[in-house]
Amino acid sequence: MRLVSKPGAALTALGLSLTLAGAAFAAPQPGTGYGLPIDASIEGHRIDWLIGVTNVLTGILFLIMFGWIVYASFFHGRKHEAKYDHGTSKRSVSIALAMAGSVFLIVDGNLFYNSTTDLETTFHNFEKVEKDPSTIRIEINAHQWAWDARYAGPDGKFNTQDDIVTLNDIRIPVDTPVIFEVASTDVLHAFNLPNLRAKVDAVPGMINRFWVSAKIPGEYDIGCAQHCGTNHYKMKGQLTILSKEEYARWAAQASAVSGRLWDDKDEGAHWGWEWKGK
Ligand code: CUA
Repeated sequence: MRLVSKPGAALTALGLSLTLAGAAFAAPQPGTGYGLPIDASIEGHRIDWLIGVTNVLTGILFLIMFGWIVYASFFHGRKHEAKYDHGTSKRSVSIALAMAGSVFLIVDGNLFYNSTTDLETTFHNFEKVEKDPSTIRIEINAHQWAWDARYAGPDGKFNTQDDIVTLNDIRIPVDTPVIFEVASTDVLHAFNLPNLRAKVDAVPGMINRFWVSAKIPGEYDIGCAQHCGTNHYKMKGQLTILSKEEYARWAAQASAVSGRLWDDKDEGAHWGWEWKGK
């Protein structure tokens, strides 16, 4: 017995599915609407490529399977009586395995190869970034419900008088590697820079890290991507990407201000740690 008797219903369903698929593939909007947020980073295209390829491959598979079901349900069935089959014959099992195997190899193989290559050459290649003399190091201390940031300052050491210390305000220059080391003093948070396609968990008792390189100056969101309590939704900050000159000017000024506010006895303010590095 067929559940729906009219091919018209199938065509409507197909049309609806194509409309939804079209919406999913809509071009990214600047900051709002559907699609991914603006990618302001140099390496973020690798993440977007993986997301795009996953969408295209699963979209193709969806259309094949959906088309097949529509054909079998509404067209093939008109001429052929339905026959019950356990699907345990050698032939059925071989066909099923061959199809599942090829989907696995093409889709997962492709994603696995490209993502591990990206990790190895780029995202986990801290060695190269640590060696770069222009690299900026920032420590992030997450707590309910804000982001403390600490830059080493001109002396390159943390917890010294020339550190730049900010709250929910992180500024970085373009075309410069920036390494973040991220800790949490209370619960799980996740330091999320959607416009740089980077995110890492802030875990009590651990220091996690990632590095980015910015491309497009502007003001972007810093978000928390782990539910961390009643004010999780308020746990945001601003990431400002500046030109190299603007950044140098800001850093010199901020370092001088932090130096004036430095208080030897205020131990709570000296939350930074020795850079973990490699
Ligand atoms: Cu911190 Cu959510």
